[in-house]
This record gives sequence, structure tokens and C-alpha cells, in this order.
Amino acid sequence: METVQSGISLVTALQCPVCGKIYDMHVQQTYATCCQQPLFAQYTPHLDKQLLSGRTPSLWRYRELLPVLDARNIVSLGEGWTPLLPLTAVSRRTGVSVSLKDESRNPTGSFKARGISVAVSKAKELGIKHCIMPSAGNAGGALSAYCARAGIRATVIMPELTPKTLQEECRMYGATLILVPGLLDACGLLARQLAEQTGGFDMSTLKEPYRLEGKKTMGYEIAEQRNWKLPDVIIYPTGGGTGLIGMWKAFREMQQLGWIEGPLPRMVIVQTENCAPMIQLFKLGKIAEEFRAIRTRAFGLAVPNPFAKDMMQEVLQQSDGTALTVTEEELEAGMEEIATAEGLLLCPEGSATYMGLKKLIEKAWVHPGEEILLFNTGSWFKYC
Ligand SMILES: Cc1ncc(COP(=O)(O)O)c(C=O)c1O
Repeated sequence: METVQSGISLVTALQCPVCGKIYDMHVQQTYATCCQQPLFAQYTPHLDKQLLSGRTPSLWRYRELLPVLDARNIVSLGEGWTPLLPLTAVSRRTGVSVSLKDESRNPTGSFKARGISVAVSKAKELGIKHCIMPSAGNAGGALSAYCARAGIRATVIMPELTPKTLQEECRMYGATLILVPGLLDACGLLARQLAEQTGGFDMSTLKEPYRLEGKKTMGYEIAEQRNWKLPDVIIYPTGGGTGLIGMWKAFREMQQLGWIEGPLPRMVIVQTENCAPMIQLFKLGKIAEEFRAIRTRAFGLAVPNPFAKDMMQEVLQQSDGTALTVTEEELEAGMEEIATAEGLLLCPEGSATYMGLKKLIEKAWVHPGEEILLFNTGSWFKYC
């Protein structure tokens, strides 16, 4: 075992967020099997935010609030600290103040780099030699890249209809790629079986605790880049929900640290009509037994049965948020509108947040003068 340097991370425990049961953070954990929920890393809530000034422009600037104990285990390609861009033409047209967190600037072209950088760093620290992951596309590319850099073996399982660029990306980084018919749930099943057979570690969304920690840094960045004042509304393109739950965790942590004050943003889940289990849950109180998803261009949102659905529902309730869908045609229209109006190419998931905003304005759920944050979670170029 490598020597552990002290003072880098303020992590104290891994805990079930429902019943509070503590799990040993010095061995690899999956999820809170006691309550069938994701595990939450807990931190000592004492850190002066002035320490951040002048630090590296990557998510590792928040290293005390991340779980890696020894800095030598950090596997980084320069992820995080993505720009927060005002959408001036959209703001003028809509009368609300709209900005966009452009996550396409991350290594491997998507926000998946955040969660995977932290999870692979922690896997390295815990001596894991083989990571296995089901992926709709972007996470698989990120896992392949970070495992290549860490010297860890990677196996990625993707739906066979995933765009060729994303498949090729995994192969280029030297990962083993397995294609299966169907959507992400079919890939998840195979990942579990493979992990049992090979002893590899299953990195499925929220079934290991540290991708969430990486994604939560979006919440820290939004606060820091806005001078510690959060927007009124955040519209997030939601699949497995790591980003939504992660940002909410970050906001709660920052409240405890005394870094932010005042009301938290109203959180909005956007999905596509072809796969909208969270909208069913939000509107009807449950996801129908016979729920079936259809393929969508926004493949990152095609998660028919998200493991953390209850926790996402809780975020909507606690934040006074909402959930809504957009159509495949609206995704296309949104990409064109933002490209011509703002000079930005959005991925279909990013476009969903913009089209979601238009619907919320129509419904008067968003009010004139409010500050709205949209997300572009990936690069348009990966979808060609
Ligand atoms: C581009 C893109 N946006 C959004 C999502 C959904 O992310 P989350 O798991 O945080 O809900 C994904 C997940 O694959 C994605 O690739």
C-alpha cells in the first residue's frame, strides 16, 4: 500500500444518505446496500474559500472536498473550470438572463471527464486494476482515456447503435469495447455479469461513490464563477442523474462550509419524449412497469430505469423544481437556433436545456429578470 499523505482531502466517511450507515472508505465500495441508494462521501465542513484564489483552473482546485487522499494518485487531463458564457442574444429575446456552462471544453469532449477523473484516481488509490462500465457513449470515452493515463485496464459496454466516433474513441485509448443490442439497461446487466466473472470493478453510474464527487464540482464552479451567488434556476439534461444529485450535494456542502447564503436554485430535469422516466415519476408518482424507451438523438439521456430516481425526485421536491420533455425535432431546432444566434454548437442534450427553457418561459414558470443557467454537457462534434 502506498503512503498516504495527510492534509489533501477532508473526507471523513462514506455514508448512506438515508439511514446514515457508515461504509469503510479504505476499500472500494459500490452503493449503500442497506437502503439501495448511492453512497455519499462526507467531509469536515471547515475550509476557507480564500484558499482557492490562484489555484489550478481544474476541478482539482477543490481537492480538499474530493476523496483522493494522496495527490500522487490524481489522474488528470485538465478537467473542469469550464467557461460560464452569457447567452446575450437569447437573453435579449427572452427577457431572462441566460448563461451556459459549456462542458464540451472538457478532455474527451464532455462533462463525463469530471466524474471519471475522480473515480479513476480513487480506483488507482485503492489498487483497482480493471474498470468495467456500461455507457451510452461519452462516459465510455472518458473512462478509456483516464484508464489509459492511469495504466488501468478498461472495458466499455455500449449500445450497438452508439455513433461510430464514440466507439472508435474507446478503441483508440486501448479499451476493450463490447457492443450490445438495446439501451443502457442491457449494457448495465452485462457489466454486472462481467464484473462478477472477471473480478473487474463495475463503475456504473452511482453504483460507485466517486463519479458523483467529480460531477459535484460543477456546483462549486457555478458558485465560484458567479462570485458565490447561485442562479435562480438550473436546467439540466438528465439521464442517470449524477450531475443533478452532485450539484445539489455541492450546494448543501457549501451551505455547511458557509461559502454560500440565500435560496438554492430551482432545479429542472429535461429529458426527451423518447425516454422520460423521470417525468413520469414527477407527474404520476411512479414509473410504469411496462415503461419502454425509444432511441433518442440525445443518447446520454436514454436511461430507462435510473438507479437514483428517488434521490432525483427529492432534489426536485427540495428545490421546488420541475421536470419536462422535449421532442427530437425540438432538439434539432435548438441546436440550429443557438449555433446561429450565439456561435455555439450544442450537443443534443445541451439543446434540450435551451428548448426546455423556452417551454418554461411559455408556461410562465420562469419569470422576467430571473437568472437561468443552461448546460451544454458535450461536444456536438462527437455526434456527427
Ligand atoms: C452529453 C450528456 N449529457 C447528459 C447526460 C446525462 O448525465 P447524468 O448521468 O448526469 O444525468 C449524459 C450521460 O451520458 C451525456 O452523455
